[in-house]
Amino acid sequence: MKNIQSIISQMTLEEKAALCTGASAWTTTPVERLGVPEMIVSDGPHGVRRVPDVHAMMMESLPATCFPTASCLASTWDVELIHKMGEALAEECIALNVDVLLGPGANMKRSPLGGRNFEYFSEDPYLAGEMAASMINGIQSRGVGTSLKHYAANNQEFQRFSISAEIDERTLREIYLTAFEKAVKQAQPWTVMCSYNKVNGTFASEHHYLLTEILKNEWGFEGLVVSDWGAVRDRVAALKGGLDWEMPGPQERRVKAVVDAVNSGELDEAVLDESVRRILRIVFKAQETPKTGKFDIDAHHELARKIASEGMVLLKNNGILPLKGQQHIAVIGRSAETAHFQGGGSSHIHPTKVAMPYKELQARAENSELTYAEGYPSDNSFNQGMIDQAVGLAQSADVAILYIALPTFKESEGYDRPDLDLTDQQIALIKAVSKVQKHTVVVLNNGAPVAMSAWIDDVDAVLESWMMGQAGGAAVADVLFGRVNPSGKLAETFPLKLSDTPAHINWPGGAGEVHYGEGLFIGYRYYDAKEMPVLFPFGYGLSYTTFAYSNAKVSAKNFKDVDGLTVTVDVTNTGNVAGKETVQVYVHDQKSGLRRPEKELKGFAKVELKPGETKSVSIQLDFRSFAYYHPEYKQWITENGEFDILIAASAADIRESLTVTLESTLNLPCILDKESTIREWMADPRGSVVFGPFYQMMETESRKLFSGGGEDERYATDGAIGMDIMEMFSDMPLVSVLMFQQSSLPMPAEDIVAGFLAQVQAL
Ligand code: BGC
Repeated sequence: MKNIQSIISQMTLEEKAALCTGASAWTTTPVERLGVPEMIVSDGPHGVRRVPDVHAMMMESLPATCFPTASCLASTWDVELIHKMGEALAEECIALNVDVLLGPGANMKRSPLGGRNFEYFSEDPYLAGEMAASMINGIQSRGVGTSLKHYAANNQEFQRFSISAEIDERTLREIYLTAFEKAVKQAQPWTVMCSYNKVNGTFASEHHYLLTEILKNEWGFEGLVVSDWGAVRDRVAALKGGLDWEMPGPQERRVKAVVDAVNSGELDEAVLDESVRRILRIVFKAQETPKTGKFDIDAHHELARKIASEGMVLLKNNGILPLKGQQHIAVIGRSAETAHFQGGGSSHIHPTKVAMPYKELQARAENSELTYAEGYPSDNSFNQGMIDQAVGLAQSADVAILYIALPTFKESEGYDRPDLDLTDQQIALIKAVSKVQKHTVVVLNNGAPVAMSAWIDDVDAVLESWMMGQAGGAAVADVLFGRVNPSGKLAETFPLKLSDTPAHINWPGGAGEVHYGEGLFIGYRYYDAKEMPVLFPFGYGLSYTTFAYSNAKVSAKNFKDVDGLTVTVDVTNTGNVAGKETVQVYVHDQKSGLRRPEKELKGFAKVELKPGETKSVSIQLDFRSFAYYHPEYKQWITENGEFDILIAASAADIRESLTVTLESTLNLPCILDKESTIREWMADPRGSVVFGPFYQMMETESRKLFSGGGEDERYATDGAIGMDIMEMFSDMPLVSVLMFQQSSLPMPAEDIVAGFLAQVQAL
């Protein structure tokens, strides 16, 4: 590693300012006289979009493997497989001369309408964080960098360059930052990309609290922060906030603004030097991996197929799948002939080859005859003739397989979806075909949930095959014919209808702001809290076999938060074919100071089992599995008490439940102040010691005073106010309650409270 400090000391102010802005669309600014080379970045996240001329913004990129997009990856629940994909992506970066791949994306799926949901993993921060960390570790294990994006709270496309996501601190920490935090702590991405939007009124690109205080100082992020392309408004403010590298470049005026700001004293040169140091560190790190050679196109295509087949989710199966012995298979839908396997926008990959779904089916259907009808057009028009033709084919077949792809005009980067629906033509097609053919299988290609209520009862099977990557056509055929037993499980809830979704009444905002009014309650956290039925729950997916859970155990019934717990359970394959099961562990807090979701995912493991085989699965829970972020303590806290450990096959299918007792080892600071309520005084360990005896007296006196002489002192009747007075007092500030009783007190109410506070501090 070069002596970075010595290079910085030799750089001119102009060189430093220029380094903090790109030289082109995809490169850093080199400083040739000091031996600082250029570093090349490319999108990301599920393939390498390396344009032949790295200094040009828009061009068709060089061929690279298009892996499945993140919705599919997360549905594998297989961190090792994602690590392998990361290694393969790195090999392609090395062959294509890319130093840093711009991905993965770890934003939360706040609403299923988010246009870029296909690029994100989950509605659950734990799962998204595990996936992101694994992909980063995979890529970086080969000496190629990553860019964890888009930090933070970039959960919609509507006004994505400007809207302010208005989020309370606890929701930000527990839902929108957690996946980033996990990925940073578990994998140290070389770079983090800030998002376009504002968070609570400040552009993410200038957000000192997010970029410097939390990301760099609190989480210990060592890499550089890069702007999303065009996210910087004020370069000097961004540097002060902690944004090291602005992209794309060149931006001469911005460079000059930085130079002027240092010269005028507005910007401390030490701030600039720190960004220069972070950039140089990554630029030189990138040089340690020579970029030469070729990658193995076939092997990577094969890996893409494997990942696709592990991520597909069998949503419904009345027994028609796997296909066996059908003589005439009607294949319907244009995505059987024109595979739909990725989304539009910056992640769009130029694939090395594409497995066409129809051909792949044909290759596996040795003894069957296949016929094909297009079924629906590429645009939003309605074409009855196409439906009639498909119906004609389906009528005479033994089974109809409908390939239904959500078109790009409905789902892409840059705009949100207006609804959860397929096109009118696609819905009419499914209904018409399933009317004449009782064995109808629907294969979906989309990046986020679609509504199915209009037709799901009429079909025999539904396979969610996502934006499945370039080899997905082969993976679909493998699953349909039972060569692969499906094992994907949903990483996001499929709602029954749009109006059921958590952010519905706060979406997409307007007048510059979007209020995250549902708070912590997104995804299954919301449906749990509302006790609302869904189409398919989080964590759900069918297999061609069945699994039984037994013998659940925890390493200790009573434990300290810092020690965590190990949960074990035996899983048995009770069917006739080999298969894989993902065991999920959710934690339910029986009683908490602040309201918590009903349950939260805190661990998972995927196991492969032969028919009849049993394996013991172990899942580790740690401090954070039981903690929540307390905005007043400004830290993650645990509370003494009982927790249920739910061992589950999906969020709606709890197989085993164990209760454990946690002892908190935290010594929390006292947060009582002169406005604290009586309930807060009594709930605080020190507050109750100081105030407890006074409370007793106060209770006796108050009940007497307000009972109006009635018999039951709790509920005053005649002459009084007909209520439980202490209940009402409990949620009033102590000082306010005392004010009402001032005449009987020896000193002013404020002084009494001040005295209590002094005693508490002294404890
Ligand atoms: C996207 C990023 C992408 C960048 C470079 C932006 O518009 O939001 O995800 O990495 O462009 O293409």
